[in-house]
Amino acid sequence: MSPTIPEQLAELKAFFEKEAEHLFPGTVPKAPALGEAMAYSYHAGGKRIRPILTLAAAKALGKDPGLVVPPALAIEMIHTYSLIHDDLPAMDNDDFRRGQPTSHKVYGEALAILTGDSLLTEAFHVAATAMDSSISPTGKLRFIEKLSEAAGIRGMAAGQVMDMTHPDTGDVNFLKQLHLMKTGAMIQIACLAPALLWNIPGDLYRSLEKYGESIGLLFQVVDDILDETATYAELGKTPGKDREQHKITYPALYGLEGAAELANSLLEEALQALEGIPEPELLAGIATFIAKRSH
Ligand code: IPE
Ligand code: IPE
Ligand code: MG
Ligand code: MG
Ligand code: MG
Repeated sequence: MSPTIPEQLAELKAFFEKEAEHLFPGTVPKAPALGEAMAYSYHAGGKRIRPILTLAAAKALGKDPGLVVPPALAIEMIHTYSLIHDDLPAMDNDDFRRGQPTSHKVYGEALAILTGDSLLTEAFHVAATAMDSSISPTGKLRFIEKLSEAAGIRGMAAGQVMDMTHPDTGDVNFLKQLHLMKTGAMIQIACLAPALLWNIPGDLYRSLEKYGESIGLLFQVVDDILDETATYAELGKTPGKDREQHKITYPALYGLEGAAELANSLLEEALQALEGIPEPELLAGIATFIAKRSH
Protein backbone atom coordinates (compact mmCIF):
# COMPACT_ATOMS: atom_id res chain seq x y z
CA MET A 1 0.00 0.00 0.00
CA SER A 2 1.41 3.41 -0.89
CA PRO A 3 2.00 5.80 2.02
CA THR A 4 -0.75 8.28 2.91
CA ILE A 5 -0.14 12.03 2.51
CA PRO A 6 0.50 12.53 6.28
CA GLU A 7 2.98 9.63 6.15
CA GLN A 8 4.73 11.19 3.16
CA LEU A 9 4.94 14.53 4.99
CA ALA A 10 6.42 12.80 8.06
CA GLU A 11 8.98 11.15 5.76
CA LEU A 12 9.89 14.53 4.22
CA LYS A 13 10.39 15.96 7.72
CA ALA A 14 12.65 13.06 8.76
CA PHE A 15 14.57 13.29 5.48
CA PHE A 16 15.10 17.04 5.93
CA GLU A 17 16.27 16.67 9.53
CA LYS A 18 18.73 13.95 8.64
CA GLU A 19 20.16 15.70 5.57
CA ALA A 20 20.34 19.12 7.22
CA GLU A 21 22.19 17.85 10.28
CA HIS A 22 25.69 18.07 8.79
CA LEU A 23 24.96 21.53 7.32
CA PHE A 24 23.84 23.06 10.62
CA PRO A 25 26.68 25.15 12.10
CA GLY A 26 28.72 23.11 14.59
CA THR A 27 30.67 24.23 17.61
CA VAL A 28 31.92 27.81 17.90
CA PRO A 29 35.48 27.28 19.23
CA LYS A 30 36.03 30.79 20.57
CA ALA A 31 32.51 31.03 22.06
CA PRO A 32 31.23 27.51 22.82
CA ALA A 33 28.08 28.77 24.59
CA LEU A 34 26.96 30.37 21.31
CA GLY A 35 27.15 27.09 19.40
CA GLU A 36 25.35 25.33 22.23
CA ALA A 37 22.56 27.93 22.36
CA MET A 38 22.04 27.80 18.58
CA ALA A 39 21.71 24.00 18.71
CA TYR A 40 19.44 24.16 21.79
CA SER A 41 16.73 26.18 20.01
CA TYR A 42 17.14 24.58 16.59
CA HIS A 43 16.89 21.03 17.98
CA ALA A 44 14.08 21.74 20.44
CA GLY A 45 11.54 20.08 18.17
CA GLY A 46 9.62 22.48 15.93
CA LYS A 47 7.07 21.28 13.39
CA ARG A 48 9.51 22.10 10.53
CA ILE A 49 6.57 23.22 8.42
CA ARG A 50 8.67 25.66 6.35
CA PRO A 51 11.35 23.10 5.30
CA ILE A 52 8.62 20.54 4.59
CA LEU A 53 6.97 23.13 2.32
CA THR A 54 10.20 23.75 0.43
CA LEU A 55 10.81 20.03 -0.14
CA ALA A 56 7.16 19.46 -1.12
CA ALA A 57 7.26 22.41 -3.55
CA ALA A 58 10.36 20.91 -5.17
CA LYS A 59 8.52 17.61 -5.59
CA ALA A 60 5.47 19.40 -7.00
CA LEU A 61 7.74 20.86 -9.68
CA GLY A 62 9.29 17.48 -10.45
CA LYS A 63 12.64 18.39 -8.79
CA ASP A 64 14.81 16.36 -6.40
CA PRO A 65 13.91 17.44 -2.82
CA GLY A 66 17.47 16.58 -1.74
CA LEU A 67 18.68 19.63 -3.68
CA VAL A 68 16.61 22.07 -1.63
CA VAL A 69 17.77 20.98 1.83
CA PRO A 70 20.24 23.94 2.15
CA PRO A 71 17.64 26.64 1.32
CA ALA A 72 15.10 24.87 3.53
CA LEU A 73 17.60 24.88 6.39
CA ALA A 74 18.38 28.57 5.83
CA ILE A 75 14.66 29.34 6.14
CA GLU A 76 14.27 27.22 9.29
CA MET A 77 17.31 28.90 10.88
CA ILE A 78 15.82 32.35 10.24
CA HIS A 79 12.49 31.14 11.63
CA THR A 80 14.24 29.80 14.77
CA TYR A 81 16.02 33.14 15.26
CA SER A 82 12.68 34.94 14.94
CA LEU A 83 11.20 32.76 17.70
CA ILE A 84 14.15 33.41 20.06
CA HIS A 85 13.79 37.17 19.62
CA ASP A 86 9.95 37.04 19.67
CA ASP A 87 10.13 35.39 23.12
CA LEU A 88 12.49 37.98 24.67
CA PRO A 89 11.21 40.02 27.64
CA ALA A 90 11.28 43.15 25.44
CA MET A 91 8.92 41.46 22.97
CA ASP A 92 6.36 38.78 23.95
CA ASN A 93 8.14 37.81 27.18
CA ASP A 94 7.56 34.06 26.92
CA ASP A 95 9.10 31.42 29.16
CA PHE A 96 8.48 28.31 27.03
CA ARG A 97 9.01 27.47 23.38
CA ARG A 98 8.89 24.12 21.62
CA GLY A 99 8.19 22.53 25.01
CA GLN A 100 11.37 23.82 26.63
CA PRO A 101 12.43 26.94 28.53
CA THR A 102 13.09 29.80 26.09
CA SER A 103 16.64 30.69 25.07
CA HIS A 104 16.89 33.74 27.34
CA LYS A 105 15.64 31.68 30.31
CA VAL A 106 18.48 29.22 29.83
CA TYR A 107 21.31 31.40 28.52
CA GLY A 108 20.33 34.95 29.57
CA GLU A 109 19.13 37.78 27.36
CA ALA A 110 22.46 38.88 25.94
CA LEU A 111 23.37 35.43 24.65
CA ALA A 112 19.81 34.85 23.38
CA ILE A 113 20.03 38.04 21.32
CA LEU A 114 23.40 37.00 19.90
CA THR A 115 22.12 33.48 19.23
CA GLY A 116 19.33 34.96 17.13
CA ASP A 117 21.80 37.23 15.33
CA SER A 118 24.03 34.24 14.60
CA LEU A 119 21.23 31.99 13.30
CA LEU A 120 20.11 34.78 10.98
CA THR A 121 23.60 35.45 9.66
CA GLU A 122 24.59 31.79 9.35
CA ALA A 123 21.41 31.14 7.39
CA PHE A 124 22.78 33.33 4.62
CA HIS A 125 26.12 31.53 4.88
CA VAL A 126 24.34 28.19 4.36
CA ALA A 127 22.39 29.61 1.42
CA ALA A 128 25.52 31.03 -0.17
CA THR A 129 27.86 28.07 0.36
CA ALA A 130 25.96 24.78 0.74
CA MET A 131 23.93 24.51 -2.45
CA ASP A 132 24.62 21.86 -5.05
CA SER A 133 26.76 23.02 -8.00
CA SER A 134 23.95 22.07 -10.39
CA ILE A 135 22.02 25.12 -9.15
CA SER A 136 22.95 28.21 -11.12
CA PRO A 137 24.55 31.20 -9.39
CA THR A 138 21.69 33.34 -10.72
CA GLY A 139 19.12 31.00 -9.20
CA LYS A 140 20.93 31.10 -5.87
CA LEU A 141 21.12 34.88 -5.93
CA ARG A 142 17.44 35.17 -6.83
CA PHE A 143 16.59 33.03 -3.79
CA ILE A 144 18.90 34.97 -1.46
CA GLU A 145 17.40 38.26 -2.63
CA LYS A 146 13.83 37.08 -1.90
CA LEU A 147 14.88 35.48 1.40
CA SER A 148 16.34 38.77 2.64
CA GLU A 149 13.13 40.53 1.59
CA ALA A 150 10.98 37.99 3.47
CA ALA A 151 13.04 38.24 6.67
CA GLY A 152 13.73 41.96 6.89
CA ILE A 153 12.12 45.34 6.47
CA ARG A 154 9.83 44.18 3.64
CA GLY A 155 8.63 41.19 5.65
CA MET A 156 9.02 39.60 9.05
CA ALA A 157 11.03 42.21 10.98
CA ALA A 158 8.69 45.01 9.92
CA GLY A 159 5.67 42.78 10.68
CA GLN A 160 6.98 42.22 14.20
CA VAL A 161 7.21 46.01 14.66
CA MET A 162 3.60 46.36 13.45
CA ASP A 163 2.62 43.64 15.95
CA MET A 164 4.21 45.64 18.79
CA THR A 165 2.96 49.08 17.82
CA HIS A 166 -0.47 48.39 16.34
CA PRO A 167 -3.25 50.95 16.65
CA ASP A 168 -6.10 50.00 19.00
CA THR A 169 -8.76 50.52 16.36
CA GLY A 170 -9.05 46.92 15.17
CA ASP A 171 -8.44 47.78 11.52
CA VAL A 172 -8.82 44.53 9.59
CA ASN A 173 -6.65 45.65 6.65
CA PHE A 174 -3.84 46.53 9.02
CA LEU A 175 -4.19 43.13 10.68
CA LYS A 176 -4.03 41.32 7.34
CA GLN A 177 -0.92 43.24 6.31
CA LEU A 178 0.66 42.54 9.70
CA HIS A 179 0.03 38.78 9.36
CA LEU A 180 1.27 38.70 5.78
CA MET A 181 4.50 40.36 6.82
CA LYS A 182 5.31 38.85 10.21
CA THR A 183 4.40 35.25 9.31
CA GLY A 184 3.26 35.03 5.69
CA ALA A 185 6.48 36.26 4.11
CA MET A 186 8.68 33.47 5.54
CA ILE A 187 6.08 30.82 4.69
CA GLN A 188 5.73 32.16 1.17
CA ILE A 189 9.48 32.12 0.52
CA ALA A 190 9.52 28.49 1.70
CA CYS A 191 6.99 27.70 -1.07
CA LEU A 192 8.80 29.74 -3.70
CA ALA A 193 12.40 28.65 -3.05
CA PRO A 194 12.49 25.86 -5.68
CA ALA A 195 10.80 28.05 -8.29
CA LEU A 196 13.37 30.79 -7.67
CA LEU A 197 16.33 28.40 -7.77
CA TRP A 198 15.24 26.82 -11.05
CA ASN A 199 13.77 30.00 -12.52
CA ILE A 200 10.28 28.58 -13.00
CA PRO A 201 8.40 31.39 -14.72
CA GLY A 202 4.86 32.54 -15.35
CA ASP A 203 1.70 30.84 -14.25
CA LEU A 204 3.38 28.12 -12.18
CA TYR A 205 5.29 30.73 -10.18
CA ARG A 206 2.16 32.80 -9.65
CA SER A 207 0.20 29.76 -8.47
CA LEU A 208 2.85 28.99 -5.85
CA GLU A 209 2.98 32.66 -4.87
CA LYS A 210 -0.78 32.73 -4.31
CA TYR A 211 -0.74 29.38 -2.46
CA GLY A 212 2.09 30.68 -0.24
CA GLU A 213 0.22 33.87 0.54
CA SER A 214 -2.98 32.02 1.47
CA ILE A 215 -1.34 29.45 3.73
CA GLY A 216 0.93 32.12 5.26
CA LEU A 217 -2.10 34.10 6.37
CA LEU A 218 -3.93 30.91 7.34
CA PHE A 219 -0.98 29.85 9.50
CA GLN A 220 -1.16 32.98 11.65
CA VAL A 221 -4.98 32.95 11.86
CA VAL A 222 -4.77 29.40 13.24
CA ASP A 223 -1.86 30.34 15.56
CA ASP A 224 -4.08 33.09 17.01
CA ILE A 225 -7.05 30.71 17.39
CA LEU A 226 -4.85 28.12 19.13
CA ASP A 227 -3.53 30.81 21.48
CA GLU A 228 -7.13 31.04 22.76
CA THR A 229 -8.18 27.38 22.61
CA ALA A 230 -5.20 25.03 22.97
CA THR A 231 -3.20 23.88 25.99
CA TYR A 232 0.49 24.14 26.86
CA ALA A 233 0.81 20.38 26.33
CA GLU A 234 -0.44 20.75 22.75
CA LEU A 235 1.46 23.93 21.89
CA GLY A 236 4.74 23.67 23.79
CA LYS A 237 4.30 27.40 24.49
CA THR A 238 2.11 29.27 26.98
CA PRO A 239 -1.43 29.89 25.64
CA GLY A 240 -3.57 32.94 26.38
CA LYS A 241 -0.75 35.41 25.81
CA ASP A 242 -2.35 37.39 23.00
CA ARG A 243 -5.38 38.37 25.03
CA GLU A 244 -3.21 39.13 28.06
CA GLN A 245 -0.96 41.37 25.97
CA HIS A 246 -3.86 43.00 24.04
CA LYS A 247 -2.56 41.87 20.64
CA ILE A 248 -4.79 42.45 17.66
CA THR A 249 -5.79 39.07 16.27
CA TYR A 250 -8.67 37.68 14.20
CA PRO A 251 -10.26 36.02 17.26
CA ALA A 252 -10.08 39.42 19.03
CA LEU A 253 -11.73 41.19 16.07
CA TYR A 254 -14.25 38.56 14.90
CA GLY A 255 -14.50 36.05 17.74
CA LEU A 256 -13.43 32.41 17.48
CA GLU A 257 -16.20 31.48 15.06
CA GLY A 258 -15.44 34.32 12.69
CA ALA A 259 -11.75 33.43 12.77
CA ALA A 260 -12.55 29.76 12.04
CA GLU A 261 -14.69 30.80 9.04
CA LEU A 262 -11.84 32.90 7.72
CA ALA A 263 -9.47 29.94 8.16
CA ASN A 264 -11.82 27.76 6.08
CA SER A 265 -12.01 30.28 3.27
CA LEU A 266 -8.21 30.70 3.26
CA LEU A 267 -7.86 26.92 2.99
CA GLU A 268 -10.22 26.95 -0.02
CA GLU A 269 -8.19 29.77 -1.57
CA ALA A 270 -4.93 27.83 -1.09
CA LEU A 271 -6.38 24.64 -2.63
CA GLN A 272 -7.71 26.62 -5.59
CA ALA A 273 -4.30 28.17 -6.19
CA LEU A 274 -2.88 24.65 -6.60
CA GLU A 275 -5.10 23.86 -9.57
CA GLY A 276 -2.37 24.69 -12.09
CA ILE A 277 0.39 22.72 -10.30
CA PRO A 278 1.42 19.37 -11.85
CA GLU A 279 1.64 17.28 -8.64
CA PRO A 280 -0.16 19.24 -5.93
CA GLU A 281 -1.08 16.45 -3.46
CA LEU A 282 1.59 17.11 -0.84
CA LEU A 283 1.07 20.88 -0.93
CA ALA A 284 -2.68 20.34 -0.57
CA GLY A 285 -2.00 18.04 2.40
CA ILE A 286 0.15 20.72 4.07
CA ALA A 287 -2.56 23.37 3.62
CA THR A 288 -5.10 21.03 5.22
CA PHE A 289 -2.71 20.25 8.07
CA ILE A 290 -2.15 23.97 8.73
CA ALA A 291 -5.91 24.61 8.80
CA LYS A 292 -6.81 21.65 11.02
CA ARG A 293 -3.76 21.44 13.28
CA SER A 294 -4.06 21.39 17.06
CA HIS A 295 -0.41 22.28 17.80
C1 IPE B 1 5.35 29.90 15.44
O1 IPE B 1 5.73 29.15 14.31
C2 IPE B 1 5.46 31.34 15.15
C3 IPE B 1 4.56 31.83 14.13
C4 IPE B 1 4.99 32.29 12.99
C5 IPE B 1 3.15 31.85 14.36
P1 IPE B 1 5.57 27.57 14.27
O2 IPE B 1 4.21 27.20 14.80
O3 IPE B 1 5.92 27.10 12.92
O4 IPE B 1 6.65 27.10 15.33
P2 IPE B 1 7.53 25.77 15.38
O5 IPE B 1 8.62 25.96 14.39
O6 IPE B 1 6.65 24.60 15.05
O7 IPE B 1 8.04 25.73 16.79
C1 IPE C 1 5.35 35.49 15.92
O1 IPE C 1 3.98 35.55 16.11
C2 IPE C 1 5.73 35.53 14.53
C3 IPE C 1 7.19 35.56 14.39
C4 IPE C 1 7.73 36.19 13.43
C5 IPE C 1 8.08 34.87 15.35
P1 IPE C 1 3.54 35.12 17.58
O2 IPE C 1 4.18 35.98 18.60
O3 IPE C 1 2.07 34.97 17.60
O4 IPE C 1 4.20 33.64 17.65
P2 IPE C 1 4.10 32.71 18.93
O5 IPE C 1 2.64 32.53 19.23
O6 IPE C 1 4.86 33.38 20.02
O7 IPE C 1 4.73 31.43 18.45
MG1 MG D 1 4.95 37.88 18.74
MG1 MG E 1 5.06 35.31 20.46
MG1 MG F 1 1.01 33.39 18.57
